[in-house]
Amino acid sequence: MAKLWGGRFEGKKMDPQVLEFTSSLDVDKVLTRYDCAGSKAHVAMLEKCGYLSRDEKRLIISALDDFMLDFENNSIDLEKYEDIHSAVQDYVESKAPEAAKKMRTGVSRNEQVVSDVRLYCKDSVVKIEGLIKGLQKELVALAKKNLDVIIPGYTHLNRAQPVLFSHLIMAYVEMLDRDRARVLDAGKRCDISVMGSGALAGSALALDRKFVANKLGFASLSSNSIDSVSDRDFMIEFIAALSIAAVHLSRISEDFILYSTSEFGFLDIGEAYCTGSSLMPQKKNPDVLELIRGKAPRIIGALNSILVLLKGLPHSYNRDLQEDKKYLFESVEVAGSILSIMTALVGTVRLVAERAGSALKDEFIYATDLAEYLVAKGVSFKDAHMIVGGMIKHCVERGINISDLSITEIKGFSREFGEDIYGYLNCEMSVEMKKTEGSTNPDLVEKEISAWEKRLRK
Ligand code: ARG
Repeated sequence: MAKLWGGRFEGKKMDPQVLEFTSSLDVDKVLTRYDCAGSKAHVAMLEKCGYLSRDEKRLIISALDDFMLDFENNSIDLEKYEDIHSAVQDYVESKAPEAAKKMRTGVSRNEQVVSDVRLYCKDSVVKIEGLIKGLQKELVALAKKNLDVIIPGYTHLNRAQPVLFSHLIMAYVEMLDRDRARVLDAGKRCDISVMGSGALAGSALALDRKFVANKLGFASLSSNSIDSVSDRDFMIEFIAALSIAAVHLSRISEDFILYSTSEFGFLDIGEAYCTGSSLMPQKKNPDVLELIRGKAPRIIGALNSILVLLKGLPHSYNRDLQEDKKYLFESVEVAGSILSIMTALVGTVRLVAERAGSALKDEFIYATDLAEYLVAKGVSFKDAHMIVGGMIKHCVERGINISDLSITEIKGFSREFGEDIYGYLNCEMSVEMKKTEGSTNPDLVEKEISAWEKRLRK
């Protein structure tokens, strides 16, 4: 097995355990495509700068193309290598031994690995951004389909005030949009070329960094070679953005799980996205949602792990950094899978309006509306709060609803209450009365939905 080093060693064989312990191949084979692209760009630059003949370049590039083909056909035994860079080098040496000797002129694995990961991140940002957008579209469609359905809104998981179901769903769309923006923003910091930084100090050779950056499609060049090989915060930002998105998906899952229980019963999740019980024949369990909630910790854990990995490292490169990639890859993989299954599941969600309706029969949910009714009549909010609180206490003690009270009884709590008060014990009225921007008012929610439809079409 060819190594990329060895001259200063006496030639004693490496303990096989050491190779196994230090090898990153199992993880960084994900980077193969990017590593070959990086080598091709580097080799092209070497020729342009006079360090390789045209023939040497041609031989190396064609060997790199062959490597990719063999890699895709699984015909390369990668196990015996320390990392993907060594595997590529060994392969090129086997095809073009003389030219291959010059291939690593002015390049270090320390920069190569960062360059590869940056390319991987750029592609992953595009993929994840697309998946988030897809989920947003599906949610907007769900909101539109159920525009006018009212459910109890909860705080502290207690019935609070009536809200449109569509308003809740659009809350998810907003959350996801911030996730999308964070992912795209992290992507900007990935889009920087580090090639030409060498192991840490740059190079005494006349290398053309811009040429390589252009070939690889990077937007700009890093400006400090020590930072180039040490920086992993572009990865941390991306994983952090994915962690927040995972927290969001987990919370949405929790809502859907709760609302689909027989206790709530507002939602029905498509059968294809539920599983049964091996013992209890009646069960239809929301396992997919539970696993979205259950997989989110992997990304959050990865974020924590990479932060801990970095925090004590001296500058510049240390081999510890090799451990970074598995956190990144796992985060991207898990984020991709939870986003796509959530999108498919949302398409099957059906709202059980009758159940939501019966949960709204409890008129205490209108208490805030009644207090605001009094405020509109000039009562201070503090007094109004006390008055309505007293009415609720009175009803609770007697086990009755507000509409069971006669107008005389109601006026007993405040003379400002008029006959029209009974009309306020109505969920349509409650949501229609909301005026503030961003509230659950049906006209506003409808506008929000069409604005999002337009934005997401772009
Ligand atoms: N496999 C290493 C990593 O993933 C890259 C190689 C750098 N190795 C070294 N000994 N300088 O970080």
